[in-house]
Amino acid sequence: MAILFQEKDRTFTLQTEKSTYQMKVDRLGVLLHTYFGAATDASDYSYRIVKGDHGYCSQLGDAVEDRTYSMDYYPQEYPVYGTGDFRITALRAAKAGCVPSLDLRYVGHEIRDGKYALPGLPAMFANPDDRDVQTLEITLKDVREELYVKLLYGVFEKRNIITRAAVIENRGSAAFALHRCMSMSLDFLEGGMDLIHFYGKHAMERQFEREAVRHGITEIGSQRGYSSHHHNPFVILCDRDASEDFGGCYGISLVYSGSYRIQAELDQFDSLRVTCGISDEEFVWNLEKGGSFTAPETVLCYSPDGLTGLSQCIQRAYLRNLIRSPWKDRKRPVLVNNWEGTYFDFNADKLLQIAEQAADIGLDMLVLDDGWFGRRDSDKSGLGDWYVNEKKLGCTLKELVDRINGLGLQFGIWVEPEMVSEDSDLYRAHPEWALTIPGRAPNRGRDQLVLDLSNREVVAYIKETLHSLLDSANIAYIKWDMNRTVDNVYSAADPKMSQGEIRHRFLLGLYEILGSLRESHPDLLLEGCAGGGGRFDAGMLYYEPQIWCSDNTDAIERLRIHCGTSFGYPMSAVSAHVSACPNHQNGRVVPFKTRGICAMQGSFGYELDLSRLSEEEKAEAKRQIRIYKDHCELFQQGDYYRLASPFENRDYAAWSYVSQDRGTASLSVVYTDQHANAKPIRIRWKGLAEDAVYDVDGARCTGAALMHGGMVLPMPACNYDSFMVCIHRIS
Ligand code: DGJ
Repeated sequence: MAILFQEKDRTFTLQTEKSTYQMKVDRLGVLLHTYFGAATDASDYSYRIVKGDHGYCSQLGDAVEDRTYSMDYYPQEYPVYGTGDFRITALRAAKAGCVPSLDLRYVGHEIRDGKYALPGLPAMFANPDDRDVQTLEITLKDVREELYVKLLYGVFEKRNIITRAAVIENRGSAAFALHRCMSMSLDFLEGGMDLIHFYGKHAMERQFEREAVRHGITEIGSQRGYSSHHHNPFVILCDRDASEDFGGCYGISLVYSGSYRIQAELDQFDSLRVTCGISDEEFVWNLEKGGSFTAPETVLCYSPDGLTGLSQCIQRAYLRNLIRSPWKDRKRPVLVNNWEGTYFDFNADKLLQIAEQAADIGLDMLVLDDGWFGRRDSDKSGLGDWYVNEKKLGCTLKELVDRINGLGLQFGIWVEPEMVSEDSDLYRAHPEWALTIPGRAPNRGRDQLVLDLSNREVVAYIKETLHSLLDSANIAYIKWDMNRTVDNVYSAADPKMSQGEIRHRFLLGLYEILGSLRESHPDLLLEGCAGGGGRFDAGMLYYEPQIWCSDNTDAIERLRIHCGTSFGYPMSAVSAHVSACPNHQNGRVVPFKTRGICAMQGSFGYELDLSRLSEEEKAEAKRQIRIYKDHCELFQQGDYYRLASPFENRDYAAWSYVSQDRGTASLSVVYTDQHANAKPIRIRWKGLAEDAVYDVDGARCTGAALMHGGMVLPMPACNYDSFMVCIHRIS
């Protein structure tokens, strides 16, 4: 059983194949956290909590004479503000006019098969044939108030995943205000670990940074209303000496796409507390009598096998148990997107010219990006008017799509439904639908405002508009964009509503719209985007099996962006395109071959005017498309290995994919620098079958030789040269 309650010790032990997690109800009914780490037996690990009479650590009232009993250093499962614990806490709540002060004790629990769901929120799920998934629900109650907290745990035994969420219920007669409500808190008795997180900016997302956790509070998060380019809601805590192949690593991932906060506090006794959840910066949730609030899910994964082991567990788990779309298992269409090819300057003839070239080189789909609707000839107008600009296009959308389909291509289209331009029919009709502070000029970003998705009317309007767009033509794919921060948060919809709820209600509205699209059009391929990879998070992955990874299409800078992303997300989610050179973002010139190799790391496509390709480039594009299609399953479902990190290695980056049965594999190398009289480069494969014989470009090599002896790489022949080989098992 994945979840074991031992009556005698009052311990809950959660087992996965590679990890054990334990809690204990102590003599006062406090839920202590006793262990999370490498798989072990279900002994009572509370012996690890060494008690002492520590100065300036006060005792809980009913601990009476026991001066060693202090919440200020006890490891707890869901610490709350008000018990004398002055570290960061998970929950801070108060009745009107009162100081926040809670004291939660255990009242009961339930263990059931399958995985809990969180209504209205994305969360991991069990498939019908997953027999290894269980749920634990522990109920805590405040000692005085009728305030209940349900702690939810999902245990995916074979996937090495434990999920957590919390539901707060007010069963009393007076309203409570929640000022902070984290999804989870984790206490580590030994806090001497490294923290790895992924920072960035627009066009340079998810940059790897590793540092020792220091005393005090280290924090990453976003107050921007979306998970952000700047800090990703995924962090790793690992042993100081953990590497790709060795050492204990904990992955913590928030399944949420709005403002969030992950904090790590190393305390006076070198214990570490980590909390993760919705940002409490602009958050005040009114919990009326009978009301409840659900904090989004956090995914926890412990790997004893280093960073590669951790990434692979998370990647597999997300592919199988987080992404809802059937596209997670399907071959993704290789597409051309017209954005960098034409920007706003196109009509149907131009698009058909690109489509003809696309069909000729073997592509599957044409995606029409921004500029097809309303009066949208620049980014200053038109958002909100989701009807086709027939004057610009020269035909109806259906006519265009039919002609593209006639060339043997599918059709995809760009939308940005959360936004409105002030110069739009929608804004002129409904200025109150935009988030703006009354009496103040609104903050603008890319000359647009954010629609108030906490307003039911706005949600209904967006649903209806999208459904009628999808009904108007044969649309197989949507690129869902979002191009500014959410600020000036004030909703005019309901004057009685706490404005501190709007940010989260915005997310609930967004998830509702995405969920309704999934239900009405289950086969639609949704690609996420937020100015590139600004909303690359587990919450969006639930609805969108792939996400445009960055507005930076330079193959060399993409090496870092892809590598950083690979730590916490499946590579099939990484949408990546070959674009024109000199690159539009940084002016770099990179060989066409290298641009292809880099983009094949994720869901592959092109983003340039295909009609401008030389014959040589066209032939190379045909070759790339054939390789990608031939190895699609390997790239989308195979295990991903970071062989040489572009964050650590100046001269080259290397990665490989190995199929689940270890029968096929690929190795890709991109040279980022070159030298005279250079030393040879040898690279060792990983994850192959030791005793298998592989065909490597006609040569026979054992898996052992490739992994231990390695492979000598050709030297770079030009700037940013690259190398790729696909191998298959012959015996
Ligand atoms: C930002 C996206 O990241 C780009 O790919 C493109 O779709 C533009 N928006 C269009 O405005």
